[in-house]
Amino acid sequence: MKQPAQNLEDITMPVHKAASILESGGLVAFPTETVYGLGADATNPAAVARIFEAKGRPLFNPLISHVASINAALELGQFNEAALKLAHAFWPGPMTLVVPFKFNARVCDLARAGLNTIAVRVPAHPLAHQLLAAFGRPVVAPSANRSGHVSPTTAAHVCEDLGQVVDLILDGGPTVFGLESSIFACLDNEVILLRPGSITRQMAEKALGHSIDDLASPNDAKPIAPGQLASHYAPRAQMRLDVHAPNAGEAFLAFGPQNAPQALALENLSPDGNLSEAAANLYAMLRRLDASGAAVIAVAPIPSIGLGEAIRDRLNRAAAPR
Ligand code: TXA
Ligand code: MG
Repeated sequence: MKQPAQNLEDITMPVHKAASILESGGLVAFPTETVYGLGADATNPAAVARIFEAKGRPLFNPLISHVASINAALELGQFNEAALKLAHAFWPGPMTLVVPFKFNARVCDLARAGLNTIAVRVPAHPLAHQLLAAFGRPVVAPSANRSGHVSPTTAAHVCEDLGQVVDLILDGGPTVFGLESSIFACLDNEVILLRPGSITRQMAEKALGHSIDDLASPNDAKPIAPGQLASHYAPRAQMRLDVHAPNAGEAFLAFGPQNAPQALALENLSPDGNLSEAAANLYAMLRRLDASGAAVIAVAPIPSIGLGEAIRDRLNRAAAPR
């Protein structure tokens, strides 16, 4: 695989090519600091429809609009005081805000699944930033995987899942955070954590100066984040969580100083028990353990503090009945 570009000249060409593909209604996969996204022009309904088709994504599940700057984000939605605080504290970065949509903005209905709210993100990854700045309009980008499958953290993962349908993949090497962005909804004077991620609940509470409401239950009849279906982010194998020692023949995803000679395949999220390292490794390791052919992937207990909340959220979804 290609290494991350070392200097601007290496990547300027592909970025301009990528922008012109977006311009003509095509699909470009690009790295963000969380996971790789599958991008299309958010103002072009035909291009946005190609994303739903390529991913096999249900049309009721809205997409995140990505822009190059906070100012560009402010043009798309109505930011209340809390939303502004979070935006200034964590953008550019691994956070998405759901705010009321400004109906004069040009993001198409399909991108928002017809909702009167919009999910907006200003990513920090230099390649993502350059692409968005060069294109100049909002870019919708779900994770660049087939719907329900594990999110891609390398260009090779994108190629495995969507190589046939994407017009160009910008390769920025492995992503740094490895989990999808945290999503906070800032509506009606309350802040709700819709999807835990690298901007943790505790970090957001500190920036806001007050506590935030609990995650809407994935089993709610009407979850506020339509994409937060209980079963998601799933490998092929069955998952067994909070396992101290795997059974013989199971694949084992360890965390901390652990060994499991009886396991069919073994990966360690972080031998030192570091949660950031674990988040960055999670999806690539799940893919490798899945490829071992084991019927079951057993996973070591992950503490639920800080970033552990996001890792446990993804593991619970991967383990949900499907
Ligand atoms: O890290 C990320 O967020 C990556 C990178 C590429 O930016 N993108 C990503 O997109 O994870 P996706 O489509 O896989 O997840 C977007 C989530 C879905 O759960 C969707 O339901 C929710 O955001 N969402 C989008 N618009 C929303 C809205 N208006 N209200 C509530 N939830 C929304
Ligand atoms: Mg996704």
